[in-house]
Amino acid sequence: MLMASGARSSTPQLLLLLYAGCVLLSMSRNAPQHLVAAANSPFSFSFDFSTISISRLQDLRLEGDAALHGKLVDLTYNSITQRIANNNCMGRMAYAHPVPFYDSITGEVSSFTTRFKFAIGLNVGGSNKEGGMAFFLSSYPSRLPPSSSGGNLGLPVDDGRSQVHGTDQFIAVEFDVFSNTWDPSGTQDHIGVDINSVRQSVNTTSLPTFSLNGSMTASITYDNSTKMLVASLQFDDHPSVGPIEVSTILPDPVTSLLPPEVAVGFSAATGTSFQLHQILSWSFNSTLSTHAGMYVCNILILKLEILKSIILHPKMD
Ligand SMILES: *[C@@H]1O[C@H](CO)[C@@H](O)[C@H](O)[C@H]1NC(C)=O
Ligand SMILES: *[C@@H]1O[C@H](CO)[C@@H](O)[C@H](O)[C@H]1NC(C)=O
Ligand SMILES: *[C@@H]1O[C@H](CO)[C@@H](O)[C@H](O)[C@H]1NC(C)=O
Ligand SMILES: *[C@@H]1O[C@H](CO)[C@@H](O)[C@H](O)[C@H]1NC(C)=O
Repeated sequence: MLMASGARSSTPQLLLLLYAGCVLLSMSRNAPQHLVAAANSPFSFSFDFSTISISRLQDLRLEGDAALHGKLVDLTYNSITQRIANNNCMGRMAYAHPVPFYDSITGEVSSFTTRFKFAIGLNVGGSNKEGGMAFFLSSYPSRLPPSSSGGNLGLPVDDGRSQVHGTDQFIAVEFDVFSNTWDPSGTQDHIGVDINSVRQSVNTTSLPTFSLNGSMTASITYDNSTKMLVASLQFDDHPSVGPIEVSTILPDPVTSLLPPEVAVGFSAATGTSFQLHQILSWSFNSTLSTHAGMYVCNILILKLEILKSIILHPKMD
């Protein structure tokens, strides 16, 4: 942080002035629009895979076995032959650019809403199912962990089966069709909120086995004032059921959970069975903008800091 200590020259004051200018510029609603547009306009994107153009594909990062197939994205194999040939099936689709989570200068955390239409396709008439999918926020860029198939849902797993750390940290909402040893018992299907661990969900809502099948719409909202993360799921083929909800209050400070800019997207994995995890459309809105202007200021401040240390602490020869 910039401090005006021991004012031996006017440099510290000048730096402080520039710094304050940067902060004010980014926050002022009265400043010329072209200068603050980046700071004031909320961040959003949306994809409808039934109409997507090739150019929009550059905005998506596909990993592992994920692929665009016609009017949807398959996160895992859509062919049983491929599935049989390969035991570890897992994939991810993330937004290809950084998404603002909080502002490291003002400390403001975003409120966000995302809604997506997806389908889980179970083997018709089959009773064998394992795996599932998740919406996640993680460090940018998204990195599909190498051994995250089956019940790990394409999310990072700590060897000690506790929480992951550093760039592996994540917040996820899982749509899980199997009850692994660490999942709620009594039924297979459940939705849950995971913070840094797929194996110790912070909250889960159980569903009758075989309910996570077919076309569904989920919406996930985070409210920065209540710190509540709420996921709500609707079954498109059974509109009278639900919505099913799972929620949690994010631990304090929320800024310790992830970096200021994150990756957002979906991960999925299968176990020994064959099943589909498909994204049909996806919309994401955040109240926080990408502070392009702030980055210019930050770089400027960094350069001035270096200059300051050279001026205030000249090398003694
Ligand atoms: C929450 O977001 C609003 C903008 O929508 C902002 O004014 C407020 O400072 C934010 N609150 C926190 C705690 O970050
Ligand atoms: C995001 O904002 C747009 C424009 O206001 C709106 O049409 C869309 O439904 C919003 N999406 C979500 C997930 O709230
Ligand atoms: C999944 O739903 C489809 C219809 O959408 C149905 O044909 C199929 O039998 C269901 N699978 C299971 C295992 O319930
Ligand atoms: C778990 O989620 C449900 C549904 O949103 C909610 O009613 C319940 O309070 C949550 N439990 C915890 C411990 O957050």
